[in-house]
Amino acid sequence: TTSPEKYRPHYHYTARKGWLSDPNGMVYFDGEFHLFYQHDDYVNVFGAMSWGHAVSKDLLHWQELPKAIIPDEHLGMCFSGCMVVDKNNSSGLSKNTLVGFYTSELPKQQQSMFYSLDNGRTFRKYNHNPVIPNSAGMSKDFRDPKVFWYEEQSLWIMALAGPERIEFWSSTNLIDWQLQSWFGEGHGAHEGEWECPDLRYMPIDGDSNNCVWVLIVSVNPGGPNGGSGTQYFIGDFLEVDGKLRFITKQTDVKWLDWGSDNYAGVGWTNLQDSSFGNRVFSIGWMNNWTYAYKTPTNQWRGTMTMIRELKLETFYEELVLTCCPAPIYKELVGDELANLDNVSLNKPTNIGSDLSASRIQIDFDTTQTDHVCVELSNTLGQLTRIGYCKSDGIFYVDRRKSGNQDFAEGFSGIHIAKATRTYNTITMDIFIDRCSVEVFFNNGEYAMSELIFPEEPLSIFKPVAQSSINPTNVNIRKMREITRL
Ligand code: FRU
Repeated sequence: TTSPEKYRPHYHYTARKGWLSDPNGMVYFDGEFHLFYQHDDYVNVFGAMSWGHAVSKDLLHWQELPKAIIPDEHLGMCFSGCMVVDKNNSSGLSKNTLVGFYTSELPKQQQSMFYSLDNGRTFRKYNHNPVIPNSAGMSKDFRDPKVFWYEEQSLWIMALAGPERIEFWSSTNLIDWQLQSWFGEGHGAHEGEWECPDLRYMPIDGDSNNCVWVLIVSVNPGGPNGGSGTQYFIGDFLEVDGKLRFITKQTDVKWLDWGSDNYAGVGWTNLQDSSFGNRVFSIGWMNNWTYAYKTPTNQWRGTMTMIRELKLETFYEELVLTCCPAPIYKELVGDELANLDNVSLNKPTNIGSDLSASRIQIDFDTTQTDHVCVELSNTLGQLTRIGYCKSDGIFYVDRRKSGNQDFAEGFSGIHIAKATRTYNTITMDIFIDRCSVEVFFNNGEYAMSELIFPEEPLSIFKPVAQSSINPTNVNIRKMREITRL
C-alpha cells in the first residue's frame, strides 16, 4: 500500500503528524507519565522545533496533548531538555510545580526555564530567561539540560552538553546556577558533538548498598556503526578540590545500543513516586541523523524506541549497562504464532503478516558452531538477518536487503556489536514493529535498534545454522496494537 500509515508502528510512540526527534522532559507526576519531544507538526523535517507532548497512565497508552512550548521571537526555538517536580518550592514559583528546562537558541544556545501550575496542561516560559546564559562568545554547543536532585548536598544538579564535554552546574533554587566542573577530554568517542547527557546513581546487580554513577552521552557522528549513537561512562560523582566532579577510570568506549537507531535517549525523572519505584526507564529517538530527514514515511516522521529498563549488571566480571524492554510490554504480548515444534532449521516458515508486529524469542547452543542467525522476510523476498558469528566476534543486524533501503546514503548496511568474549549460548529477544527491529542479545548485554522498511509486511521466519544445530527455544508471539487515546 502507499497509505501514509503503512509503516506506522503498533506499539511505539509516534506523533500523529509531522516531525518527531529527541525525547524530552520525561517525568512522572501525580499519576501521569509525561513524554515531551522535539517536534514540528507542520513539516516532516527538522523545522520550528517545539516540545510535543503526550501523557500516559501506564506508559503504553499515550494521549497526545497540544504542544507544551513553541518558539518565540526573542529566544527562538525550543531544543532538548528536561523536567523536574519542584516538591518543596525551591524555585518560589509554587509548591509541587513542574519545572522544565530547555535550550533556547537565540541569539545563541542558552538554558531557559518554563513551568506548569496545572499538572502539565499549560506551560509558561519564565520571565527572566535564560537562566544559564552562554558566556563563551564563540562556542555554539551549549545545550540539552538534564536536572536531578542531588540528595547528598541538597542541591539541584544540571548536566549540560558543552563543546565535546559534559558540564555540571548546581543550584539551590533552580534559577541561579553555578558551574562546578566538566568532563570529557580523553574519555569516550569524540568524533562528533556531545549531546543529551543523563547522570544517574545506580545499584550494581540490584544491590542498593552498592551504587555507582552512570553518565549517558549521545554523540553525533561517531556512533558504533556510523552517524549518531549513545555511549555511557561508569564512575563516581563527588566533591574534589571543592567542586563536584564526574570521575571515571574507564578507558574504553561503551555503547548503550549498538544499532543505528537509538539516539538522544535519557531516563524518566521522579519514577520513584510511581509504582515502578527506583527502576530506571529510558526512551530514545529511533533514528540516526545520517538519514533522519529521508526515512520513507510521509505525514509523520520519527518514532521513539520501546521504553527500556536500564540496569547495571555484572557479566563475566565486567559491569554492563544492560538494556531490556521495560516490563510494561508484557501486557502487549499476545497469541502464540509459532514455537519450536512448528519451525524447522534452515527452512522458511510462513507466519503471516502478524509477524510484522511481534516478539521472537530464540536461543541457540553455539558450542559446536560458528554462526547462527534468524532471517525475517516478506513475500517480495526482502530480508533482514539477525545473528551471531563466533569467529568474527560479532552480533549483527543486516538490513542490506531489508526493503526500501536506498532512500538515503548510509542507511543500507550490516551493523555489528563487538562481542567482548566468545559465547557458547545465545539468546535473542527480538521485537518487530512494522518499520523496526529491536534486538536484545543475552538478556540485554547487547542491544541493537534498527529501522527497516520492507515494502510488504514481514511474514516469513527462518532460523539458520549448520545442520543439526537446532535452536533450543523458539517462541513467536503477536504484539497487540495500542490504541491511541
Ligand atoms: C540531538 C539534538 C540536541 C538538540 C536537538 C535539537 O538530536 O541535536 O542536541 O537539543 O537535537 O532538536
